Amino acid sequence: MKYFYITTPIYYVNAEPHLGHAYTTLVADVENRFHKMCGEDTFFLTGTDEHGDKIVQAAQKEGMEPKEYVDRISKMFQEAWPLLNIKPDHFIRTTDPEHIRTVQYVLNKVYESGDIAFREYEGLYCFGCERFYMERELIDGKCPDHGTEPVRLKEKNYFFLMSKYQDWLIDHIKKNPDFITPERYRNEVLSFLKEPLDDLCISRPTSRLTWGIPLPFDENFVTYVWFDALINYLTAVGYPDGDEFKKRWPAVEHVIAKDILKPHAIYWPCMLKAIGVDPPRRIHVHGYWQIKDQKMSKSLGNVIKPKDLVDTFGVDATRYCLLREMAFGLDASFSQKAMTIRVNADLANDLGNLVSRIITMLYKYRKGVVPQPDDYESIDRELISSALSLKGQWLNLMEEFSFHRALSSIWEFINKVNKYIDTVAPWALFKEDKDSLRLNTVLYVMLESLRFIAIYIYPVMPETSEKIFDALGLNKSEILTKNLTYWQLLPVGSKVNKIKPLFPRMELEDKNKDKKNKIEKDKSKKKEGKKMEDSADKADKKDNELIDISLFQKVDLRVAQIIDAEKHPNADKLLKLKVKCPDERTIVAGIAEAFPNPKELIGKQVIVVSNLKPVKLRGIMSYGMLLVAKDKEGIHLTSVLTPAEPGTKIS
Ligand code: MSP
Repeated sequence: MKYFYITTPIYYVNAEPHLGHAYTTLVADVENRFHKMCGEDTFFLTGTDEHGDKIVQAAQKEGMEPKEYVDRISKMFQEAWPLLNIKPDHFIRTTDPEHIRTVQYVLNKVYESGDIAFREYEGLYCFGCERFYMERELIDGKCPDHGTEPVRLKEKNYFFLMSKYQDWLIDHIKKNPDFITPERYRNEVLSFLKEPLDDLCISRPTSRLTWGIPLPFDENFVTYVWFDALINYLTAVGYPDGDEFKKRWPAVEHVIAKDILKPHAIYWPCMLKAIGVDPPRRIHVHGYWQIKDQKMSKSLGNVIKPKDLVDTFGVDATRYCLLREMAFGLDASFSQKAMTIRVNADLANDLGNLVSRIITMLYKYRKGVVPQPDDYESIDRELISSALSLKGQWLNLMEEFSFHRALSSIWEFINKVNKYIDTVAPWALFKEDKDSLRLNTVLYVMLESLRFIAIYIYPVMPETSEKIFDALGLNKSEILTKNLTYWQLLPVGSKVNKIKPLFPRMELEDKNKDKKNKIEKDKSKKKEGKKMEDSADKADKKDNELIDISLFQKVDLRVAQIIDAEKHPNADKLLKLKVKCPDERTIVAGIAEAFPNPKELIGKQVIVVSNLKPVKLRGIMSYGMLLVAKDKEGIHLTSVLTPAEPGTKIS
């Protein structure tokens, strides 16, 4: 059996969960689901880090006792993850009694092996980071993270003699190129290790701090918060005893952001070496979510709460966008607008439309029953081979945490399926011959492609994947068996279920709305009264009756080919048209009275205004407007006199 053990940092309980924490935990969840699909025995750990100065200060600020305070915030973290469909197997807290026991066990072990020394130390201490800094680490004499000047402290403390493991660590990193990924962080650690390592101060006198785990060999000290925290990864799998530890530890992989690279890539392997435990298998390091070039953090007051994102976008759209927008390892800028654009383009348009398109056609042409495919033609075989060959790429990219690339290759396939449908034109096959065998094959290829897509998206969008499986009449548990190796597993003759639109399109918020409103208000204040304003408006209009050519040039008129037309489900006067101009889009048009049989419009060329702001018409988004003439006879479509390429500009 292959094992997989994934961890997130345990988060400080001095702040509520925000998008930064959510991203790391989401990455761990996605990898955990992925490895589970690969048939591995997986374990996913997250939790909270609850000791130290920072926490005491945060509790004091709230006028609470530390324990009462940590209970409250830890609960917020525990409750945040289900909202994002993140499912850890265990939630650890450093105040758990078994963790306290493990930390003391490790301390004793290191102490007994002679790797801990008691020394007087004078150094520059940052209370925010809860650690001493070397002069060379400071920027303009200030802490690089907090921008505050560290305080000179002189005290007796216990030190972990980390420096003696420096050469071993360098050697380990060099021999294991995957130990720290992406490579830039491996290089960063190796370059840091070119200078001699200091020993690590691992105690704090109880005169200064009592909220910590007492040193088992000196009750006048508590353990330094990092020495305590890192050990959580061992506690959770039952170190030092038991099978659980033996089987899980060799498979452990940590996910962190770059802020805590040094404790994970330097202190931690040395601590483990000192107690005779192997270093973690891999450490995966990602960049920061930023808002306007600044790291998102509580201290900067620029945090986005995961719950707000889920409320606005939904669970799977949030999961998708976070993984698609950040190249793992690099910083990424968060913007609600970018997210909205992604949701509309990738989810509502590409994926959502594809799913409803395929199922709608199956209902229209085969009453929702999966048909028996006939012989495949070369265009089918091409698509099938894309579906199958995506597997290797997907496995590699997911394995190396390249989520944005994995998703973009799935979307390439989704676009291929959309293109396939446009090319084979099932509606034309149906028109030609209702019982066409070719149409059976085409429908089967479309449905089976959907099954592949549902599997590929599962780790990132489990809910959507399950909805598609449900619609295909398949058992959800089959997703986990990940049958991407075989084509044609969808049972012929089975019934497909109708499905609600997966991702409704989202309105792009008008960023300048508030500004515009304010200008409007100021304007109206200046005017003397409503009447005067109205007559001024009228005068303006008269002057504007003749328009300048530049105004006309703003209107983008195009030749559009109607590729599908149907009655609007909620309005008698409207038709829902699918047009090509040259991109495919939906236009809702008020021409139903002239076309009681909308299908006759398929294939016709019309003129559309293609750069109108999208509007929702009775629940359906319309992307453009059809130009028609209306007289007492009724409605007349406008078109070009000879057929033109769809999308040709009218000038
Ligand atoms: N308690 C320590 C970790 C101990 S692990 C043995 C700690 N806690 S923390 O609450 O500050 O969490 C830091 C982690 O939160 C980062 O490494 C990252 O996983 C996540 N993030 C916090 N802010 C972030 C961003 N702005 N962007 C991306 N991730 C961020 O350090």
